[in-house]
Amino acid sequence: MSAETTAVKFPLTASAAPVAAERRAQVLAAPGFGKHFTDHMATATWTPEDGWHDTAVVPYGPLSLDPAAAVLHYAQEVFEGMKAYRREDGSVWAFRPAANAARMARSARRLALPEVPEQMFLEAVTSLVRADVEWVPSGGESSLYLRPFMVATEAFLGVRSAREVKFLVIASPAGSYFTGGVKPVSIWLSQEYTRAALGGTGSAKCGGNYAASLAAQEEAAAHGCDQVCFLDAVEHRWVEELGGMNLFFVHDDGTIVTPELTGTILEGITRASILELAKDLGHEVVERRVGVDEWREGVASGRITEVFACGTAAVVTPVGRLVSPEGEVVHGDVAGPVTTAVRRTLLDVQYGRAADPHGWTTRLV
Ligand code: PLP
Ligand code: COI
Repeated sequence: MSAETTAVKFPLTASAAPVAAERRAQVLAAPGFGKHFTDHMATATWTPEDGWHDTAVVPYGPLSLDPAAAVLHYAQEVFEGMKAYRREDGSVWAFRPAANAARMARSARRLALPEVPEQMFLEAVTSLVRADVEWVPSGGESSLYLRPFMVATEAFLGVRSAREVKFLVIASPAGSYFTGGVKPVSIWLSQEYTRAALGGTGSAKCGGNYAASLAAQEEAAAHGCDQVCFLDAVEHRWVEELGGMNLFFVHDDGTIVTPELTGTILEGITRASILELAKDLGHEVVERRVGVDEWREGVASGRITEVFACGTAAVVTPVGRLVSPEGEVVHGDVAGPVTTAVRRTLLDVQYGRAADPHGWTTRLV
C-alpha cells in the first residue's frame, strides 16, 4: 500500500452552533492565555485490538468519561504545547511541529501510552487549524495555541497501562502568557520541592509533573514571584528549569549557557531552537550544569549579564529577579540586549518576517 492510501485522515463534522463572529472578534481582540477555545477539536481512540481509529474533527465539547477512567486515578496522560502563527499575508504556519510529534511519542513511551505516528499527529493538528482558521488571531504576538494530549480512558482500577486511550487536540487563541507582557519575571528558588529525579518523568511532558509543581508555584506566588525555579533533586545545587520554561544565562563574553539535558529537564523545542539561532547570531552556546552559586556569584561579579526563560507559551521572557531565603539576585526590570535580540530573531522566523534557514516552519493554511 502506498503512503497516500495509509495516511490517517481527520474528517470534519462541522459544529452546528459555532461561536458568533462578533463574539469571536471580541475574544481575538484580547485572548489572554488558555481561557477561550475554538469551535472544534480533533479526536482519536486507541485500543490494542484496533490501534488508532475513529479519527475525526468534531464540535468542541465535554468528554464523557467513566468515573473509573484510568487517567482520573493514575494520571496516565501526556500533552504537547505548540502554536499556529498567522503571517501578514494571512497564511497560517506551524513551528517545528514534527519536533512536538517526536516529543509526544517519547513522553508516551515513558507513560506506557501508545505512540501517535508523526503523520497522524500532523494531520490532526492541520485538520483542526483548517477547520478553525478564523480563530487564528493576527497582529502583535498573538497565535493559536494548540494542545495535543492523550489520556487513558479505560474504566479499570487495576494499576497497569490502559487498554483504551484517547488522543485529542484542542486550540485556544493566545496573547501573552504573562499578563504583564514582555516585562521581566521574578523567580522563586524552590527550597523544599524538586520537580524531577533521574529515572522519573522529568523529561516527559505529562500532567503529573505540573500537578506536582503547583505547591511550589503557590509558594512562589506567596513570595511575590511569578514563577518557580527547581534545583536538582540530589544535591539541591544545580539549576534545572522553571515550572513551564527552560533557562538561559548570558555571559559577559557573549557565551550563552543553558543547563544540560540530564534526563530530569524537559527538552524544550524553544530551547533547542535558541541554541541554533544564538549560534547564527554569533554567540558561543554551551550546554552544561549551572550551579545556583554560579548564578548568584556571576551576577555579583558581572560575569552573568542576562538570564532569560523560554518556552512555547512564554516565548523568550527576561528574568528580573531570583528570590530565595538567602536573599535576592537582581537583574533589573528591562530586557537585556541579548534577550531582546534572541526573542526578536525567534519571533521573526515564527511569523515569517525573516528567512527560515533551518526549515523550521510549515504552512498549515
Ligand atoms: N520546560 C517545561 C517544564 C515546560 O512545560 C515547557 C513548555 O512546554 C518547556 C520547558 C519549554 O518547552 P517548549 O519550548 O517545547 O515549549
Ligand atoms: C508550553 O509552553 O506550551 C507549555 O506547555 C507550558 C505551560 C503552559 C504548561
